[in-house]
This record gives sequence, C-alpha cells and structure tokens, in this order.
Amino acid sequence: MSDSTFDDREFRNALGRFATGVTVVTTCDAEGNRVGLTVSSFNAVSMDPPLVLWSLDRGSSTLPVFEAASHFAVNVLGSDQTAVSNRFASREEDKFGDLDCRGGVGNAPLLPDCVACFQCRTIHRYDGGDHVIFVGQVEAFERQPGAALLFHDGAYCVAASHPETD
Ligand SMILES: Cc1cc2nc3c(=O)[nH]c(=O)nc-3n(C[C@H](O)[C@H](O)[C@H](O)COP(=O)(O)O)c2cc1C
Repeated sequence: MSDSTFDDREFRNALGRFATGVTVVTTCDAEGNRVGLTVSSFNAVSMDPPLVLWSLDRGSSTLPVFEAASHFAVNVLGSDQTAVSNRFASREEDKFGDLDCRGGVGNAPLLPDCVACFQCRTIHRYDGGDHVIFVGQVEAFERQPGAALLFHDGAYCVAASHPETD
C-alpha cells in the first residue's frame, strides 16, 4: 500500500488474530483438469438462499479456471489433514496426486475424509482488491464427525472446549 503509515505485516498479523477453519476449494476446467487451493477466507453468507463466499488471490494460477467454472466445491479439512492443507497451499504441479477424490456437481473434486463439503454454483464474482470474491449457491452439502482443522496466528491448531462452558 502507498500509505507509509500502514504496516502490511502488522495488518496481516492482526488479521491472523481471527481464527478460521481451513478448506480446500476445488473446481475443474472444460478438459477435466482439476485445480484446487487451500483457503481460509471461506464464510457463510445467507441461509435463504443458501450462500457462501471465499476470496481468491488474483496471482493464483487457478484464477482463470475458477472464473470460467460454473461450480466449485469447498472441502472443510479435519484436524488430521495438515499435509493436505500444505499440499494445496503449495505450487506443486499435481496437487491431487493419489488422493481418492469423487466428482461433485460440475465435476468439482470432492476430497476424501473431510469434515464437511459444500458443492456450489458460482452466482457472483466481485472485485476484492488484489482478490476476487466468489459467492456460491450451495446445491449439496455433507457433514462428517471429527475435529476440524483451525488456523490462528499463522499456525494450525485444534479447538478445545472453553473452560467457562464446561
Ligand atoms: C491456511 C491457509 C489459508 C489460505 N487462504 C487463502 C485464501 O483464502 N485465498 C487465497 O487465494 N489463497 C489462500 N492461501 C494461499 C494459497 O493456498 C496458495 O497461495 C496456493 O499455492 C495458491 O495456489 P496456486 O499456486 O496453484 O495458485 C492460503 C494458504 C494457507 C496455508
């Protein structure tokens, strides 16, 4: 940012105080090539209609594919899936490797062993500065037991019950 009083690193650190889950958002191009990346900007938007959002860095190699795709899938990772998160946060050529994925709506890959999954039709794309904000209408979803993977202060963590609620 051009304003020299605005400290980008401190901004990032302050944003990191907001704990999130960790997802892998996936889709597929017209030739069937699968793309996906680790995403913590996922959030719920609306119950009726059922809408969710996430934002994609304009520098991502996946941007043209997500912009052209009719659908995407949000795979919510479990606490034992840090390796999956790291793999999809990398610039590896074949991030899907030997993962036993199912094809969802619009052929968006559904990763195995996730704690939840949302299959979405892209209904809006908004300018979000150096990111593009995708809003999807949820056409199918599933939920599995197990602890979710969390991200807080730049590190993976797991949830614990708050002592005041015991
Ligand atoms: C915990 C975590 C959360 C992330 N969240 C996002 C996000 O919300 N949006 C985004 O564009 N990149 C996010 N990233 C970075 C991408 O996963 C990473 O840049 C990825 O390599 C992009 O894929 P590409 O290199 O194939 O374009 C996140 C990375 C991590 C580790």
